[in-house]
Amino acid sequence: MTTKIENNLLDKVVSLAKRRGFIFPGSEIYGGLANSWDFGHLGNELFNNIASLWWKKFVQERDDMVGLRGPIIMSPKVWEASGHVQGFSDPLVECKICHERFRADKEEELKAHAKTHKGKEEWTEPKNFNLLFKTYIGTVEDAKAVAYLRGELAQTMFTDFKTILETTRKKLPFGIAQIGKAFRNEITTGNFIFRTKEFTIAELEYFIKPGDEDRYFNEWADFMENFLVKEIGLKQENLRRYEHPKESLAHYSKGTIDFEYKFPWGWGELWGLASRTDFDLKNHEKASGANLKYKDSETGEEFLPFVVEPTGGLERLLLAALLDAYTETEARSGEKDAVHETEVTLRLAKSLAPIKVAVLPLSRKEELTKPAYEIYRNLQKHWMVQYDETASIGKRYRRQDEIGTPYSVTFDFDSVTDQKVTVRDRDTMEQERVVIADLQNYLEKRLK
Ligand code: GAP
Repeated sequence: MTTKIENNLLDKVVSLAKRRGFIFPGSEIYGGLANSWDFGHLGNELFNNIASLWWKKFVQERDDMVGLRGPIIMSPKVWEASGHVQGFSDPLVECKICHERFRADKEEELKAHAKTHKGKEEWTEPKNFNLLFKTYIGTVEDAKAVAYLRGELAQTMFTDFKTILETTRKKLPFGIAQIGKAFRNEITTGNFIFRTKEFTIAELEYFIKPGDEDRYFNEWADFMENFLVKEIGLKQENLRRYEHPKESLAHYSKGTIDFEYKFPWGWGELWGLASRTDFDLKNHEKASGANLKYKDSETGEEFLPFVVEPTGGLERLLLAALLDAYTETEARSGEKDAVHETEVTLRLAKSLAPIKVAVLPLSRKEELTKPAYEIYRNLQKHWMVQYDETASIGKRYRRQDEIGTPYSVTFDFDSVTDQKVTVRDRDTMEQERVVIADLQNYLEKRLK
């Protein structure tokens, strides 16, 4: 019987992530740094698989998209023109009892904090707190040298709009996409990798004719949802759309919906879609003096395009994928050496699984390990594969289930003579004998 354990799900996922080296606290040998996380081998693979899948679906497989790789530090004038220096802020309140600071708009967090003071609440008046991370260029820390780490990726897509238009010869509608780190001096961080001060955004600006924004907004909303459900494999019932009321819109947005995920602590923003109008191009044109207009080759008309912006945090998506995939099962009978009462399987989409195949010789005798290792070396040219000859075969299957490996290949004593291996499927646990010469082909079909 398979059960999804909601209780303590976050704790269980955090513990698995640390135990198996997906994600663990950063700077740990120095006592750690609050909410900084390091991604180990498996976490890094999972992250890269998510990022590649996003790029494939949002850029590579479309005719209307091009890519960009911009810097983290841009001219500070960019952030002045974009409105971030003035308007990229959250309301902050301070607890008068212990001086800890919180976001005034996060009621549940305020209530939870009040409980630590036996329900007593004494807050300062809300003040706006700017989220941009300040840094200094050069050797002197003075006002003239102030720069900012990018708070979003979008701005390079706006400042480079004209160059990209000219070099790629794209016509409206078309989009510019980017994946990279963003930095925000968040007032409160937490819930594992959900809210951190540095994170990765996969973002695109889709340039369209003014007036077309509602049509493309709806098209992108469906595209994003399809990606989250069909490609990442999130359960539909754990996703919902939330339309922002006018008063909570970001300073650049005319309309925003969030794709919310049902995290163990409640619904929370996973991804966003904003209708940014010509807000940014207009501001950059005004501040820089550059002509950022698009010229319609048929009508000769010149205008500033409108923009629809699908955006998403990749660490947040990775967390949702882990939570969604985490499954506990009562010890599976019938498989030799079922050692634990409760077994954990990460039912990740195969395309996301950090390790695609495990190669396991049944015993450590050389007649099995040598050919098994050779199979491993061959498969390694195509996928991230693990070779494991330690512990009982049951234990080794468990280890692979726990990290979400879709296929385990066992080389046994019969393999020596019949040149076949046993391939075990993570989800069905079915085992099939496959001719070694056909193995790569067999796996290719199933790992697509
Ligand atoms: N250019 C628009 C933009 O940056 P956003 O909603 O502020 O929009 C984009 O951020 C995405 O980045 C969010 O949907 C969320 O997934 C992720 N995100 C935002 N703040 C984050 C944080 N502090 N830690 C982790 N991910 C975050």
